[in-house]
Amino acid sequence: MQAVILVGGFGTRLRPLTRNVPKQMLPVVDRPMIEHVVAHLAAHGVTRVVLSLGFRPEAFSDAYPDGICAGIPVHYAVEPEPLDTAGAVRFAALAAGIEPSDESASSAGSADDVSDTFLVLNGDVLTNLNVAAMVADHRAAGAEATLALTEVDDPSRYGVVPTDADGRVLGFVEKPDAGSAPSRWINAGTYVLEPSILERIPAGRRVSIEREVFPAMAAEGSLHAVQSDAYWIDTGTPEAYIRAQLDLVDGTRGDLPAVHPSSTVDPSADVQQSIVMAGATVGPGAHLLNSIVMGAATVGAGAMVAHSIVGPGAHVGERASLTDLTVIGESESVGAGVELTGARVPADS
Ligand code: GDD
Ligand code: MG
Repeated sequence: MQAVILVGGFGTRLRPLTRNVPKQMLPVVDRPMIEHVVAHLAAHGVTRVVLSLGFRPEAFSDAYPDGICAGIPVHYAVEPEPLDTAGAVRFAALAAGIEPSDESASSAGSADDVSDTFLVLNGDVLTNLNVAAMVADHRAAGAEATLALTEVDDPSRYGVVPTDADGRVLGFVEKPDAGSAPSRWINAGTYVLEPSILERIPAGRRVSIEREVFPAMAAEGSLHAVQSDAYWIDTGTPEAYIRAQLDLVDGTRGDLPAVHPSSTVDPSADVQQSIVMAGATVGPGAHLLNSIVMGAATVGAGAMVAHSIVGPGAHVGERASLTDLTVIGESESVGAGVELTGARVPADS
C-alpha cells in the first residue's frame, strides 16, 4: 500500500525552528521526525511513501538522495504552490499514479496491486495507531474514506468528529471555538481513502480536506471513522514538540538515550527530563528541566533552561535563564545573565 504524507506546511507555530527547516525535518531525539513517521508505516505494511511537499522541498531530497527513507522508497510530489490539505492529497496521489476511476487504476497499477486504496497522514503526528487494523476496518465497512480518531482534553485546536455507534461520522468541525466542540474525539490525521475521493477535490485551487471535503462527506453520511486509544501526539507546537521527545526517552513511548553520546554535559550540570542532542555542550552548574538542547548548541555555566528549546548551534550565555516555552532559533545567541520567559529569538520569526 502507498501512503501520502503531508509535509508541505510552514510550521508557523514552531518558528523560529521552522524558519528554514520544514517541521517534519526537525529532529525528534535521534532522527528527523519524518523517519519516525515512515518507520511506523513500514511496520504496518506500507511499501512506498509519497511526500507531499511545498515549503523547502530540497530539505527532504537532500536528506534522502537515494530515495530511501527509513528503509522504504520515497517519491516526492512538489506542489507549485501550497494547495492546502485536500489539494495536496490530490496532487500527490495523481503524481503517484493513483487514478480516481477503477479502470485506469487497474491498468496503471503494477501486477501485484490488489487495489489503489491509499493512506494519507499528517506528517507531524507521532502515533502507535494500528494502521493495518484500521485498513481492515475500512475494508470491512466498505467505506470510501475512514478517519482515525483520538480523544483529547481540549479539542479546540483540532478537527472535531462526532460519530454514531457504528462509526458513521455525523459532522466534522475544524477548530471549533473553545467550549463549543460537539465531541472530545478528534481527527488523528490518518486517513484510509479509496481513489474515488480524488473526484471530490476540485483541481486548480486550494482545497482543505478538513473544511470542505470531510464536512461534505459527513453531511452525506459517507464518512467512516475508527476510535483509537493508541499513543498519539501532534508535534506542531513547542510544548508538543518537547513532550513528544520526552515520551520517547522516559518509557512512555520509548527508551531512547536522552543525552547523545557525542554531547558534553558537565558532571555538575543538573539535567532533568530533557534531551541533549549530538555535539551539544552543557556547562558546569547549568540546569535543564523539560527542555530540548538541539545539535551543537551550547548552554553556558550556571544557565537555567526550563520548558524551553535551544535551537541547533545556538548559544545560551552563562547564568542566562530561559523559561516557559522560550524557543531560541538556529545559531542565535542569548547573552550572559539574560532572562527570557515565553520568548522567541529572533522575536519577529
Ligand atoms: N503539501 C502540503 N500542502 N501540506 C500541507 C499544506 C499544504 O498546503 N498545509 C498543511 N500541510 C501539512 C502540514 O505540513 C502537516 O503535516 C499537515 O498538513 C497538517 O497541517 P497542520 O498545520 O499541522 O494542521 P493542524 O495540526 O492545525 O490540524 C490538522 O491536524 C490535526 C491533528 O493533528 C487537521 O487535520 C486537524 O483536523 C487534525 O485534528
Ligand atoms: Mg499539526
